[in-house]
Amino acid sequence: MDVIADIAIVLGKFLYYFLESLVYKIIPKTKKNVAGEIVLITGAGSGLGRQLAIHFARLGAILVLWDINQEGNTETCRLAKENGGEKVFPYTCDCSNRQEVYRVADQVRKEAGDVTILINNAGIVTGKFFLDIPDHMVEKSFLVNVISHFWTCKAFLPAMIKANHGHLVCISSVAGVFGINGLSDYSASKFAAFGFAESLFLELTMVKKTEVKTTIVCPHFINTGMFEGCTSKYPFLLPILEQEYVAKKIVNAILEEQVYLMMPKFVYIILILKQIISTKMLMALGEYLGVDTAMVSFKGRKKANELQTETEGKHQ
Ligand SMILES: NC(=O)c1ccc[n+]([C@@H]2O[C@H](COP(=O)([O-])OP(=O)(O)OC[C@H]3O[C@@H](n4cnc5c(N)ncnc54)[C@H](O)[C@@H]3O)[C@@H](O)[C@H]2O)c1
Repeated sequence: MDVIADIAIVLGKFLYYFLESLVYKIIPKTKKNVAGEIVLITGAGSGLGRQLAIHFARLGAILVLWDINQEGNTETCRLAKENGGEKVFPYTCDCSNRQEVYRVADQVRKEAGDVTILINNAGIVTGKFFLDIPDHMVEKSFLVNVISHFWTCKAFLPAMIKANHGHLVCISSVAGVFGINGLSDYSASKFAAFGFAESLFLELTMVKKTEVKTTIVCPHFINTGMFEGCTSKYPFLLPILEQEYVAKKIVNAILEEQVYLMMPKFVYIILILKQIISTKMLMALGEYLGVDTAMVSFKGRKKANELQTETEGKHQ
């Protein structure tokens, strides 16, 4: 009897949520107001982080900007103020260094207040075939692209849980849902970031802290310079995305409290195909789309990698 009741309940929920999603396709969701919210962006010193800071400044948020690159972060701070940001707090912080994250987080709490929207955006890429990746870069990729998320969430999530109010944003990647040639360390760290954010989302739901929201973002290549030189064979299917466009979409997903955001939409189709077609078919599709050779002319952003501090021995 319980089994029948359980099935009836789950089918009822399926139908309800299906109809709800159809309604939201027609009537856009109401967007939340982020004026006065304290938004922390890691990796705010360039690219996507900078664009996100500009958007949130326009929306009246209080900004906390973290980057290992002081010069870039200062410039973002200036741009955020130019775009209406009244309270902007820049900090030089290597988010892959646990002690530094906790120290700067204490400083943020004292100077800006409790962070209510945490955007884990900082990232680095090595861009080499597996056997050519220096060991320290494997470790560094994981430290920056995912382990730092553990430290920032440990630092700022307790206050969000206490107030049952907040938002965790994970900038993963398309490489966080598909393995990609020449990106083994990056891709593995982005899969991990996705898994961490999704698990936290489920934990928060389980403990009924449903007003602490989660957004997980998986974009294809963006023209920020991080993947300089990479190509797309069929840009109408998998375009190199404009950073302003991606930032706008991310902000919109945060305001609408959307859990997953993949860009472009074609990625959703490939993700479904990945589950149902054979590996050989999937590889043929990858070859057709040029995903297998996308990294061949990778130049990448050297500066972010050079700025990484020596961490060996610090993360015990
Ligand atoms: N550019 C793309 O094609 C692309 C595609 C998908 C996902 N992403 C992801 O989007 C995010 C933003 O990337 P982007 O394209 O703006 O790259 P970017 O290189 O322009 O920006 C990354 C920023 O992170 C900072 N950073 C690096 N290591 C840091 C550290 N240890 N501590 C603090 N800050 C650090 C850098 O100084 C830089 O300002 C990254 O997580 C990246 O993996 C990028």
